[in-house]
Amino acid sequence: MRIIVTGGAGRLGRSVASALAEAGHEVVSVDRTDPGLPGVEGRTADLLDHDATHELFATLRPDAVVHLAAIAVPFSAPEHVILSTNQTLAFTALTAGIAAGATRLLAASSPTVIGYGAPHGWTPEALPITEEHRVAPWNAYALSKVAIESTVAMLARAHGDTVVTGAFRPCFVVSPEEWEGAPTQQGHTIVDRLADPALAAVSLYNYVDARDAGRFVAAWIDRADARHSGEVYFVGADDALALAPLSTLLPAHVPSTAGFADGLIDRAAAFSSAKATAHLGWRPEHDWRSALSPAEAARLTDLLAADSGRPATTPAPAPAPR
Ligand SMILES: NC(=O)c1ccc[n+]([C@@H]2O[C@H](COP(=O)([O-])OP(=O)(O)OC[C@H]3O[C@@H](n4cnc5c(N)ncnc54)[C@H](O)[C@@H]3O)[C@@H](O)[C@H]2O)c1
Repeated sequence: MRIIVTGGAGRLGRSVASALAEAGHEVVSVDRTDPGLPGVEGRTADLLDHDATHELFATLRPDAVVHLAAIAVPFSAPEHVILSTNQTLAFTALTAGIAAGATRLLAASSPTVIGYGAPHGWTPEALPITEEHRVAPWNAYALSKVAIESTVAMLARAHGDTVVTGAFRPCFVVSPEEWEGAPTQQGHTIVDRLADPALAAVSLYNYVDARDAGRFVAAWIDRADARHSGEVYFVGADDALALAPLSTLLPAHVPSTAGFADGLIDRAAAFSSAKATAHLGWRPEHDWRSALSPAEAARLTDLLAADSGRPATTPAPAPAPR
């Protein structure tokens, strides 16, 4: 299949483009920069330019479009800019794909649509969280992702059986270099996130290895059919990005989860990807314990040893949720 990946030069896009190329697809990244990946053609464009994007896609004649390009970090730009940019990018890329003949269209949403981290309180309906959970965005980034999910559903209704559309909610994406100690999009490293449970509490300790997210996209491209059009999927690791069970960490750091987290024992995650497994046969293959580089694992051990003499970290407001 010939597949356009928008945002193919990004943190997630590089792994998605690589996974699709490794699966044998002809992949074109359309981004502001060329990812320079083996087996991936790089086209540079501003996807906010509606007419130029439609023209480019018409010349590329894709069978599928995977839309990732976005302002990907909440509060990293003025709220009105995040909302209008992300909505416009998605609408432009998905409709340009359909106009160019693509019949499979998948767009990146985010778990933040659920509303955790809201400054004036948020209580889960249940844990683990599934796609049945109510959507309650509280910032422009999450609202833009709700709009993207609605766009995907709208296109499914508008085009019936002629196209298959979908959206996925990748948990906090960890790219291969971040397992080696590169800073995450929140600025701190994965080891920092593990050593200080207040940092990941804001996103309920969710994460996914970028390569697993790439394999999810490849599975969706291969296996999603008309029965699945317009569907939304959580895509997360099977375990939590935490050293202790969420049954103890969550009530300590997110008090509103008390009474809901009792079942999250051992390594259980707060988000379920069971729907992606049931519909597409996808399962995550990586977990942080085996993905962390030996040097970073040793750094974590040192940090914990150094911290053991200090008082426990006080739960504190953390950065923007992912
Ligand atoms: N990284 C995460 O943890 C995470 C979690 C949930 C959802 N997501 C979503 O996944 C997608 C990819 O995230 P990411 O972490 O790879 O982000 P990223 O910022 O690393 O990559 C986004 C890419 O989009 C490109 N882009 C933005 N505006 C563009 C424009 N006008 N024209 C062309 N290209 C443009 C950027 O150049 C960049 O390469 C986003 O939609 C994001 O919201 C990411």
